[in-house]
Amino acid sequence: MQSYIEAIEKDASLYEERNFEKRSEAIDFLGFQLIDQIDEFLQESSSPDKLLQLRQRAEELVSALEATDRKLFQRIQSAIRLKGCTGMAFKKLIKQYVDFNIADAGSLEEVGYDNLDVFINGLSLFETMPEQTKDLEPEMVYYQKTPARIIFELVEKSDFRKDDVFFDIGAGLGQVAILVNLLAGITAKGLEFEPAFCDYARDCAAALDLSDVTFINVDARQADYSEGTVFFMFTPFKGEILDTVLDMLRRESLQRKIKIITYGPCTARVAAQSWLHVAVPEQSNIYTLHIFTSF
Ligand SMILES: C[S@@+](CC[C@H](N)C(=O)[O-])C[C@H]1O[C@@H](n2cnc3c(N)ncnc32)[C@H](O)[C@@H]1O
Repeated sequence: MQSYIEAIEKDASLYEERNFEKRSEAIDFLGFQLIDQIDEFLQESSSPDKLLQLRQRAEELVSALEATDRKLFQRIQSAIRLKGCTGMAFKKLIKQYVDFNIADAGSLEEVGYDNLDVFINGLSLFETMPEQTKDLEPEMVYYQKTPARIIFELVEKSDFRKDDVFFDIGAGLGQVAILVNLLAGITAKGLEFEPAFCDYARDCAAALDLSDVTFINVDARQADYSEGTVFFMFTPFKGEILDTVLDMLRRESLQRKIKIITYGPCTARVAAQSWLHVAVPEQSNIYTLHIFTSF
């Protein structure tokens, strides 16, 4: 254990901002393996002094590595506020720190997170998730984040026009709408049933000075979709609620062509709508993105 800690202490490259993934691995190793193991030994030890010293060194290392990440994220947040970091520039900047391949995104058969999520979480400014204040109805689905690489894939495959207005139906903490705005430069709106999530998402967009991102605290059955052209759903609800909202979107499609993008189990119900066709054929895995266009 001591030699592992010494090796990390001596590795100056871990404090270079660009080595985000290496740093992430070191933080995970220290936090989830080393400190846990020291704690196990401590329970059985009659002379714990040396173990306690090692534990303290490991904790100090984690704090120092996290401080490097914080500096990096603050710098990127400032660049976003100064509007110097959108579209390709934002994607290129992230690629300097996280090696991800969008082509891999659609191959997973379940929701899975990776270093891109760790990086985007770091950028998201608020660390503690707010408590749910309202009970969900049985057909409503609890908050779960769309993996970040799926949002990057969505932007890459959606062929957005400049005047598109993107809606995330069941927006949770707002990450999808914020990333779509940052990556595609289009207006993005999030509809969310839970007021605490909606407040969190609003604070996040305000802290990054994103004036084209708004969050509306509303039940999707009562929302106004008249401005939207692209609607995303990571299965926010099922059954009759989904049918009601799909019917509202069908009525919008009588006014203008719309796209519906799905992720997760709601895909099957959306695929059964005769007024939609799949614009981008995908292998039939519910955890690949499906992009539907109205006729
Ligand atoms: C699976 S999460 C998706 C969160 C977000 N789209 C994302 O990918 O990060 C589903 C979200 O839908 C919200 N939700 C459920 N029923 C809703 C309704 N009737 N109207 C608006 N939001 C709803 C939940 O509170 C939850 O935050």
